[in-house]
Amino acid sequence: MPSSDSLSHRTKAQALLSDAEQIFDAAAVQQAVDKVAQQLNQRFNQEAGAAFPLVLGVMGGAVVFCGQLLTRLKFPLEFDYIHVTRYGSKDHGGKIEWKVEPRADVRGRTVIVLDDILDEGETLAHVKERLLEMGADEVLLAVFADKDIGKTKPVAPDYTGLVLPNKFVVGYGMDAYGYWRNLPDIWAIKTTSGG
Ligand code: IMP
Ligand code: MG
Repeated sequence: MPSSDSLSHRTKAQALLSDAEQIFDAAAVQQAVDKVAQQLNQRFNQEAGAAFPLVLGVMGGAVVFCGQLLTRLKFPLEFDYIHVTRYGSKDHGGKIEWKVEPRADVRGRTVIVLDDILDEGETLAHVKERLLEMGADEVLLAVFADKDIGKTKPVAPDYTGLVLPNKFVVGYGMDAYGYWRNLPDIWAIKTTSGG
């Protein structure tokens, strides 16, 4: 028997989606992942003496992108995950807390960081800086989506799947209130404050 709590979560999740608008369908999402995979394959397949990169997924948003992208990468790599969360004022970058740090030694390595979305860019700017401080040779950022926020970001992605409008989205690993990370397509939800 489901609890009344799980029933209300189902109701809230359904309501959120029925008010949302699909902005990229599943085929467009898969095309975007193919594009990123192709670019990474080009870079890491052909380069003479290419690095054995450490691929770090930023959990949990990157889970779907990581899973689907990894199966398309045709070069030797090592995979692990990191977990960072950002607290506090959006305007001031907030405070970033590392819940899971990289476990492999990053010294001297090429690190490819995978994340779901670059929004203000504070999270990935911090992650990149930290990995370089830890001795990584090079840090490449591959994001499934880059949100067009109309402002300069502290970091630019090296690889981008889709450019999204400045809306709050769910699907393909991205959630609102924990809901709908599991969707294969991208939906913009209604928000009171825009953005
Ligand atoms: P940033 O530091 O503003 O770039 O924060 C990026 C993180 O915020 C992403 O990894 C997501 O976890 C989350 N995020 C930003 N925009 C959205 C969105 O539209 N939907 C869901 N999560 C988002
Ligand atoms: Mg995230």
